[in-house]
Amino acid sequence: MKIFEEIESEVQSYARSFPRVFNKAKGVFLYDEEGNEYLDFLAGAGTLNYGHNNPIFKEKLLDYIHNDGITHGLDLHTKAKGEFLETFNEKILKPRELDYVVQFTGPTGTNAVEAALKLARNVTGRENIIAFTNGFHGVSLGSLAATGNSHHRGAAGVSLSGTSRIPFDGYLGEDIDTTAYLDKVLSDSSSGVDLPAAVIVETVQGEGGINAASFEWLKNLQTVCRKHEVLLIVDDIQAGCGRTGTYFSFEEAGIYPDIVTMSKSLGGYGLPFAVVLFRPELDLWKPGEHNGTFRGNNFAFVTAKAAIDHYWSDDKLSKEIKRKGDYISSRLEAIIEKYGEGNFTTRGRGMFQGINCVNGDLAGKITRRAFKHNLIIETSGAEDHVVKFLCPLVIDDENLKKGMDIVEQAIKEVCGKEDSIPEEKDYFDNQKLAS
Ligand SMILES: Cc1ncc(COP(=O)(O)O)c(C=O)c1O
Repeated sequence: MKIFEEIESEVQSYARSFPRVFNKAKGVFLYDEEGNEYLDFLAGAGTLNYGHNNPIFKEKLLDYIHNDGITHGLDLHTKAKGEFLETFNEKILKPRELDYVVQFTGPTGTNAVEAALKLARNVTGRENIIAFTNGFHGVSLGSLAATGNSHHRGAAGVSLSGTSRIPFDGYLGEDIDTTAYLDKVLSDSSSGVDLPAAVIVETVQGEGGINAASFEWLKNLQTVCRKHEVLLIVDDIQAGCGRTGTYFSFEEAGIYPDIVTMSKSLGGYGLPFAVVLFRPELDLWKPGEHNGTFRGNNFAFVTAKAAIDHYWSDDKLSKEIKRKGDYISSRLEAIIEKYGEGNFTTRGRGMFQGINCVNGDLAGKITRRAFKHNLIIETSGAEDHVVKFLCPLVIDDENLKKGMDIVEQAIKEVCGKEDSIPEEKDYFDNQKLAS
């Protein structure tokens, strides 16, 4: 661990929650140098929906490397890119009647968001972007301006401009439809909210605390956007690729966004990869206007295609996500019933769920206690008060149950003897505790 303390920047974050040196990963497990096994309910913050080192993708990737397939190709046409585009079009876009063109951006989610915002601004000639309370869209300056979190915003060092904030669904209570407020301010030329180029929304806010918008709210949002000729951007970077039960998280809401951003699990294998999808008539980009050396990752084209071929050629995975999502919901409800006492509520959709704790201290104690039982699970939300379940979608029933049992055990221990949790320093000594 010494080298990390010596020269790795203080900016590290997940490494603080799980201070081990990991050197192997397979399926739903991570292994540290001492050979300890950890069940992974963080899954690369939603990047490993198909598990670590998925053997189907690994084989395709190794074949591709063995055959000297292109590793880096700027934005050149490559066979791998062509095959990915064909598969994505035939198996994802066409069956859903989505008429989008695909832009390959730099390989991070935030770069896809930057491109989406630029495109919306350039197409409409307007500057303002409407973003929502607790939204998270990345930490480069344009995306950060749309992100709500003060911890991240505070690090910008410059003013974050060009966005206005509107309450997300449920922010003002269950009975208030905040899209009515949006409609009102956009209808009133003296509201002080400039007519925006676009609205950017997550259907389920991941980093913001697993806040799931209702389908009705999303439909109303689309209606308001259409009424005012404002583009609708769905940021599906975390909620997409099946996490909520369908390939795109907005499918069940029956909406058709103008622009969609995707990354994280799109590459399938955990390889950096991001795209923006948009209606063809919005494609007013001039060559290279939004560029980047690593636009389109050829290894990720291979594994992304394999992910679609294997998991999205039929509705098997989708059905499985719903079944397992129902199991997670029922376990969470039972846990809350048993240990709730006003401290917990549940939230989320599909396999994107969370336990909303009364404060971040309690959530932190639960995740630390879970780690002691060899479960990797993180928190999200403004005060890190939501225990966030992000296990790989392909997890088998036995390990899903095991993870839920560990969380239940952690809550039991925290609620039973909250004060007895050892401090961080000696906390990890007993890490081999049976799970
Ligand atoms: C919804 C959403 N948008 C954008 C991002 C930023 O992605 P990246 O961290 O790859 O820049 C994230 C990351 O968590 C996200 O959840």
